[in-house]
Amino acid sequence: MNILVTGGAGYIGSIVTEELVKRGDRVVVFDNLYYGHRSAVHPQAAFVQGDLADADAVKAVFGVYDVEAVMHFASYTLVGESMEKPFMYVGDNVTNGLNLLRAAVERGVRRFILSSTANLFDDPARMPIDEEERIVPGSPYGESKRILERVLYWLDRVHGFRYAALRYFNAAGASPTGERGEDHDPETHLIPLVLQVALGQREAITIFGDDYPTRDGTCVRDYVHVSDLAQAHILALDALDEGSRTYNLGNGQGFTVKEVIETCRQVTGHPIPAKVGARRPGDPATLIASSDKIRRELGWQPKYPDLNTIVEHAWAWHRTHPHGYED
Ligand code: UFG
Repeated sequence: MNILVTGGAGYIGSIVTEELVKRGDRVVVFDNLYYGHRSAVHPQAAFVQGDLADADAVKAVFGVYDVEAVMHFASYTLVGESMEKPFMYVGDNVTNGLNLLRAAVERGVRRFILSSTANLFDDPARMPIDEEERIVPGSPYGESKRILERVLYWLDRVHGFRYAALRYFNAAGASPTGERGEDHDPETHLIPLVLQVALGQREAITIFGDDYPTRDGTCVRDYVHVSDLAQAHILALDALDEGSRTYNLGNGQGFTVKEVIETCRQVTGHPIPAKVGARRPGDPATLIASSDKIRRELGWQPKYPDLNTIVEHAWAWHRTHPHGYED
C-alpha cells in the first residue's frame, strides 16, 4: 500500500515507518522537521518536508504519491506546554489534522490511523482503563485528540471513512535494531531523562512528587515498547476495511517512577542519583491501560512487555547516540 506518514521523522512515526518499509509498503513521510530528524526517516521511504498548516502542500502530497492510507503522528504532544499555550493544541493540532483529513477525503482516501493519547482519561473510574471509560481530557493536548477522534467518527458516518484511534499510554524504548530511538528537544520524558543521568549529561533525576496514593508514593504509568506500538498500527491498518475502531494501547502493567529509576540503575550499572521535587501539575497518580480489546480483536501481543527489555533497548540507543540523531 502507499502510506502517507505525517510526523514520520519523529520518535514513534519513524519506527512505524521502519516497520512498514520492512513489510513492503511504500511510505511517504511528511514532516516539517521542527521536532523530527531527517536521518530518522528510513532511507527507503520518500520524504517531503512540509507543514500540515499549509493545506495546499498537504493536498499536493496526495496527488503526487497516490496515497491509499494515512498514519497521522505529526502533532504537538506536550501536556504541560498545552496548559500554557492552549491555542497551539486546541488550535493548531486540530486545524492541522483537519487540513490532512480534508485532503484525504477529497482524494477519496478512506483509511486513517490517528495517534491518540491516555490524556483522554484524567478522571478514570476504573483501573486498568478500557475503551468504555468516560473521556475527560486532562489538558488542551488531550482535548485536541478528543476533537480529532470525534471528527473521525463523523467522517465515518458521512463518508464511510475508516479509522483507528490508537490511544498510547507511555511509549518507551527504541527500535530493537538500535537504529531509531527517542530524541526530543527539550526532553521531558522519564526514561530518556534518567538515562541522561547514566550518560553523565545530568547530575540527578528529579522525582516529581512522592506523596501520591501509590505503593511507593510516586506516579504509576504503563510503559509500552515503541515496536509493539508499531505492530499495533500495522494490525489496525490491516483491519480497517472491516470497520473503524478505537483501542487503548499499553502493557496493562504499571510501574512507579521509583521502579523505573531502579530498573535503569540495574540496566546501566550507574548509581543514578535521584531527588524528590514538587509534583508536576496535571499528573494523575496512576494510568494503566487495558488493551484486552486489541488483543482480542486483532491478536495484538506485545513482544517486549518487560520493563527491563524496554529500558535495555532505550539504553542501547542512548549509549550509541548520546546526542541523538546528531551522532
Ligand atoms: N517524571 C518525573 N521526573 C521527570 C520526568 C517525569 O518524576 O523528570 C514522572 C512524571 O511525573 C510521570 C512519569 O514520570 O509521573 C512519566 O512522565 P512522562 O513525562 O515520561 O510521561 P507522562 O505520563 O507525563 O506522559 C505520557 C505521554 C504524553 C501523554 C500522557 C498521557 O508522554 O504524551 O502520557 O497522560 F499525553
